[in-house]
Amino acid sequence: MKKDSKTGLTQDELDNLSFDDYDEAINPKPADTDFDAVVEMSLSRRSFMQGVLAFGGVATLGATGTALTSFSVEAADSRFGFTAVASSTADTIVVPEGYNWHIASRWGDPLFSDIPEFDHATRGTAASQAGAFGDNNDGMSLFSDKDGRQILVVNNEYTNRGVMWGNNPDGKYASDDDINKGKNAHGLTQVELKLTDDKWQIVKDSSYNRRFTPDEPMDITGPARGHDLMKTNADPEGVTALGTFNNCGNGRTPWGTYLACEENFNGYFGTTDAEGYVQDAAKKRYGVSGKDRGYGWWKVDDRFDVAKDPNECNRHGYITEVDPYDPTSKPKKRTALGRCKHENAEVVVNSDGRIAIYMGDDERGEFLYRYLSDGFYAEGSNTDDLMENGTIYVAKFSPDGTGKWLALTPETTGMDKATICIHTRMAASIVGATTMDRPEWVTANPLKAEVYCALTNNKNRGIKPNAGGDETPVGGPNPREANKYGQIVRWWPSNADHTANTFTWDLFVMAGNPTVHEGANAGSSNVNEGNMFNSPDGLAFDNKGLLWIQTDGNYSNEKDFAGQGNNQMLIGDPATGEIRRFLVGPKQAEITGIAWAADRRTVFVGVQHPGERGDSNWPDGGDKTPRSSIVAVRRDDGGPIG
Ligand code: FEO
Ligand code: CA
Ligand code: CA
Ligand code: CA
Repeated sequence: MKKDSKTGLTQDELDNLSFDDYDEAINPKPADTDFDAVVEMSLSRRSFMQGVLAFGGVATLGATGTALTSFSVEAADSRFGFTAVASSTADTIVVPEGYNWHIASRWGDPLFSDIPEFDHATRGTAASQAGAFGDNNDGMSLFSDKDGRQILVVNNEYTNRGVMWGNNPDGKYASDDDINKGKNAHGLTQVELKLTDDKWQIVKDSSYNRRFTPDEPMDITGPARGHDLMKTNADPEGVTALGTFNNCGNGRTPWGTYLACEENFNGYFGTTDAEGYVQDAAKKRYGVSGKDRGYGWWKVDDRFDVAKDPNECNRHGYITEVDPYDPTSKPKKRTALGRCKHENAEVVVNSDGRIAIYMGDDERGEFLYRYLSDGFYAEGSNTDDLMENGTIYVAKFSPDGTGKWLALTPETTGMDKATICIHTRMAASIVGATTMDRPEWVTANPLKAEVYCALTNNKNRGIKPNAGGDETPVGGPNPREANKYGQIVRWWPSNADHTANTFTWDLFVMAGNPTVHEGANAGSSNVNEGNMFNSPDGLAFDNKGLLWIQTDGNYSNEKDFAGQGNNQMLIGDPATGEIRRFLVGPKQAEITGIAWAADRRTVFVGVQHPGERGDSNWPDGGDKTPRSSIVAVRRDDGGPIG
């Protein structure tokens, strides 16, 4: 097979890379630099212990010089009312004894009665997909209307080409309709769900049902609206974007709207002359290379041809606000929250009424952000300004267990306000933020001023700079070189004030494999043979203040990952450090997205890309096409969960 001249890889090899590996292959990072300084920055035993002692645990020095936390959890202290499930490599869902699960909705399920049921042989058409549940569900929220009707809004992050077009001999698109089917499988799905005979089901033709495809018109709001970088051939004013896509995690506001968060938006922009296409510094930083990931949109829609329309990519990478209660409403792309590979958006109302929004940028060596509104939230008041006027901050962690939020303003960056919102990564590099191990979901404890972020893994830690050339020293909240397993960092805003510009932090857990390694890669002391996992990604607190942890990691179940099985969901107790496994997913899937029914008697959990490498027929079994799905988990006795 022909090899790509830039990367030396075949198209099949490129297709099988993760988003990060693909971006790195296409956009090689700057050459390795002198990491002597890095060792200086690396954690001293004393400073790490200061950073990890919040449990009153005992820190011990690991084999690599990285300190690990010890917890002393007595069984009697446990707040978990379930028995841990074992790891699993089966092509099914595993839940604890006394719990059950069923499918609430799947890729291709029709939202309307004039849309046909999913066809396993053809996998549908562009037209059927536009009226059906999208593919690869990720972040989601459930809203309750005044009559108690349950409205689910969910991101449809992307598609796996080999699954979407697995009906074609080579697993690739063969027609424009194939390309448009894949395109329409992206975006968001809004659907009413109803519990009937103990099973949640789609309410077909509900007035709430709606699909947002990558062609849905959306207002561009905030500082970047109308800026030259936002002007395109089809929209010379730079005020209306079409669509949202590659939304990963999500958020919800206290005023009842949904936040979709665009992540790897760069992979959709191609051009006929990818080899001759020259990237500017900003496109390089954001990985817009002129070579798409095989979705083909630029072949059917000129705005995705980056040579023809170089600014279209600047209109993606944002957080989009959707009003689920008004199915005719026009979504708003909130540029004030900045542009990056967003993971989710955790919205907190501070004690003074200001809004803090915590956001990770999920790429190796990128940053962790906080947005603060200028205005104050009051129930029932007009909230339109809260995500329009405010300031973005970026986190700088010190190895001594303290940290600071650095404001991104014209004064601190030398960039104008609109450009800070469009080229946020570059602004954050200027102020010297801490390069992180891929910040995924952020979640705030509802019971106290405490915030957690999953740092999923980073094979470049201590080895290569980020895409902007910022060093990635080992140390602080990123304590392991070539981090394979990931960790969860948490911080406490000074004086319990989310608007404070200082905080203290520690690591809640370092994932690892104590059956394979000693020292740092065994994980922190709250990791053991019975609960080990890798690559924490989804995070959410329940209303009791327990932390639900979802994984998107290596499911090979061998070598470094032996015994960890398929991706899974665990629950952690912030007070004791205890972590217990609650659910395991099917083969080659990640577990991502979580929402509770209004009565808390069902927890909805997302299962994304089962069989992404061809080895799953979940959930329909036999020789059926694997389908990303939302699973409803309930207790056999009907009691509340979380
Ligand atoms: Fe789509 Fe950062 O995971
Ligand atoms: Ca994720
Ligand atoms: Ca991930
Ligand atoms: Ca994913």
